[in-house]
Amino acid sequence: MTARIVVTGKIPEAGLELLRTAGDVWAWDLAQQIPDDVRDAELADADVAVTLLTDRVDQTFLDAAPNLKLVANVAVGYNNIDVAACERRRVVVTNTPGVLTDATADLAMALILMSTRRLGEGERLIRSGTPWQWGMFMMLGVGLQHRQLGIIGMGGIGEALAQRARAFGMTVVYHNRRAVDADTEASLGARLVGLNELLDTSDVVSVNCPYGEATHHLIDAAALDRMKSSAFLVNTARGPIVDEAALVQALQTGEIAGAGLDVFEHEPAVHPGLIGLDNVVLVPHLGSATIETRSAMATLAARNVVEVLAGRQPVSPVSS
Ligand code: GLV
Repeated sequence: MTARIVVTGKIPEAGLELLRTAGDVWAWDLAQQIPDDVRDAELADADVAVTLLTDRVDQTFLDAAPNLKLVANVAVGYNNIDVAACERRRVVVTNTPGVLTDATADLAMALILMSTRRLGEGERLIRSGTPWQWGMFMMLGVGLQHRQLGIIGMGGIGEALAQRARAFGMTVVYHNRRAVDADTEASLGARLVGLNELLDTSDVVSVNCPYGEATHHLIDAAALDRMKSSAFLVNTARGPIVDEAALVQALQTGEIAGAGLDVFEHEPAVHPGLIGLDNVVLVPHLGSATIETRSAMATLAARNVVEVLAGRQPVSPVSS
């Protein structure tokens, strides 16, 4: 029997083309989130759900899809999925690691540059029509050379960011559950340290770890308090790793110098306290947002679908 594949959001054509080789594809193709009742009706006889990070795959989702065999998330992060509940139902879960590593590391580097060189502030000044002229002391930022970058979470994206930071003359320390292999450490010139040492000594702290119970509010008021008053925080991972209210406070009081955020605690809502602050750069979850990367993500998700429906092992499975 032909498998039924439900795609819960708009994905690039390359992914859809490959999915069509594996079964009957139904795809929601509007930019706005699929309404729950439409989604549940489509899931009723679905064998596969291809999901986005804005879908909550929980017990309700699974109950609507009694035949489901696979949830293929078009994202590397899968905190939107109750993986344990899927495992109990023998539903395989896959994600899209690797293909968005460079794009996300590029964005983290861009936020480091934007926040340390005050580029958002400069843009706003010009767009506001405020008269200005070049000045020796106008909008001075800080250089990155010989400054320390502290990377929290040294997976592929953390490593790719370390390479970029090295090219800008930064030194790198990292905090991770385990050390990366010695050759990688040597080539990145990166040193494993405890979280407190990383926070105490880094000039820029970048959050690159997955989100889960263990990392909820990992950067809280106490962590921000440890950071140098001249330091910057960058988050391209998941919003709730940072206590956003505590961050607002730290930015308002000068406990830290600035921040660059691609992700938000209650996305798409942004803490109102951040909006008026000049020392924070805010972008709307654009980490993997390049044409090539989004296409590669959709294709990898589709490859997982093809493999699982053919009775083979998925290319990139996740487990709880
Ligand atoms: C993006 O945030 C992703 O997890 O792919």
